[in-house]
Amino acid sequence: MASTVRTKTDLAYQRCIQPSCAATYEVGEARTSCGQCGGLVDVVYNWDALAVPKSLTDFEQQWSRRHDPLSFSGVWRFRELFPFAPAEKVVTIGEGQTLLQSSDGVGRYVGLQSGRMYLEYEGLNPSGSFKDNGMTAAFTHAHMIGAHRAACASTGNTSASLALYCGVSKLMQAIIFIGSGKISYGKLSQALDYGALTLQIAGDFDDAMHRVSQVSAQEGIYLVNSVNPFRLEGQKTIMFRVLEGLNWQVPDWIVVPGGNLGNSSAFGKAFHELHELGLIDRLPRIAIINAAGADTLYQLYERRGLRWNGGHPDAAIINGYYAELDGANRHASTIASAIEINRPVNLTKCLRALEWTRGVVREVTDEQILDAKAQVGANGLGCEPASAASIAGAKLLREEGIIARGDRVVAILTGHQLKDPTATVAYHTHDQAEFNRVLGSRGVNRAAFANRAVQVENNLDQIVRAIQLNS
Ligand code: F0G
Repeated sequence: MASTVRTKTDLAYQRCIQPSCAATYEVGEARTSCGQCGGLVDVVYNWDALAVPKSLTDFEQQWSRRHDPLSFSGVWRFRELFPFAPAEKVVTIGEGQTLLQSSDGVGRYVGLQSGRMYLEYEGLNPSGSFKDNGMTAAFTHAHMIGAHRAACASTGNTSASLALYCGVSKLMQAIIFIGSGKISYGKLSQALDYGALTLQIAGDFDDAMHRVSQVSAQEGIYLVNSVNPFRLEGQKTIMFRVLEGLNWQVPDWIVVPGGNLGNSSAFGKAFHELHELGLIDRLPRIAIINAAGADTLYQLYERRGLRWNGGHPDAAIINGYYAELDGANRHASTIASAIEINRPVNLTKCLRALEWTRGVVREVTDEQILDAKAQVGANGLGCEPASAASIAGAKLLREEGIIARGDRVVAILTGHQLKDPTATVAYHTHDQAEFNRVLGSRGVNRAAFANRAVQVENNLDQIVRAIQLNS
């Protein structure tokens, strides 16, 4: 459909992110790219004509209305900051009841002063990852425009979330594309249990993403991957809850793992909009952490100098890099399977977020990720490997002096610990063959914080002795 001219009465619409294009589209269209230039699109609002709270503290009034599902939801209680849906179309399952936990234990590991490290624990969502924040928004949009089938490619969490919303609401059939053997059992079991049509593609996430885009365009199936701009509107609320947890103060750093770069794009937009609305007086800096085996953003941003550049990032740098990957037949490879992605679909949006937030990008090895994950676990909140990239990245940035000891740092724990028990058990195992099979093959040489199970005969004395020896 052609781009349309906006009038003052349009409260929400879609717009190409490239300022030189800025083509606009109705809120009722399902689109994942600009029809004029092929760029990504945003949901934008006519704030002047909308009732926006004067202060973030106004949202505290929602707490007394928790009998209303929209006020109970940790996403929709901030709906005035993403007002694209009529209340009666909202599909919510109580997502976003998450926790901002201060953790001195993890802070010590990272190298921060006491009271400066916070963990935003998104594993508490109904499907066990941050994806529910975005899924409730995309699903609501799909419902608004009458979709009956919704699809995604996934490394496991998006698919678990979509399958859950379909299973609970019965409004849509979930069709999920996963790379064969590429998702952890925790996530696969969710999709199967919730009743999604599950297509295991002989390939990896990048292949599955390519295919689902083709199929959904051809068959008119609603696509819920994070190229869907409505997904990212829901994910903005992770940052609203972080601010809420800090009594509406802006932290110095947000550290987040980078895969398809939806979160980082959404976080940048959230802070940019709050700033424009006068609801915060400064933006935090965002640090995006890649796994070393899936480090496209790091390579492009830190090594080759790719920048947003007013909406015109240098395509030659991007295409040249992808040609190199193809030439070397290099596929993404990391134990952090959630972020095992070489062709992030939100790359340009993420570059914009990096620009807005004076962001930095780092890469961390699988060994650093697993050690960081063990530290998160040992301090009480478990997470899956991809999530721990944020802690490993914060530690690295602290060592480099980019994050200061006294900075207030929020790391996003994107997914629950039980999503990927294979990685966790292999890390702690005493069985060297198992360790080598699961982790050694990925360049992990040692598990600095392994908590090995004690092997003991089925004999009372020996059990008691084992306890005396080890406690
Ligand atoms: N952490 C977890 C646990 C994830 O599942 C993902 C993405 C990310 C981080 C990366 O977030 O894409 O916004 O940069 N998982 C997607 C999926 C790709 O299919 O579940 P991102």
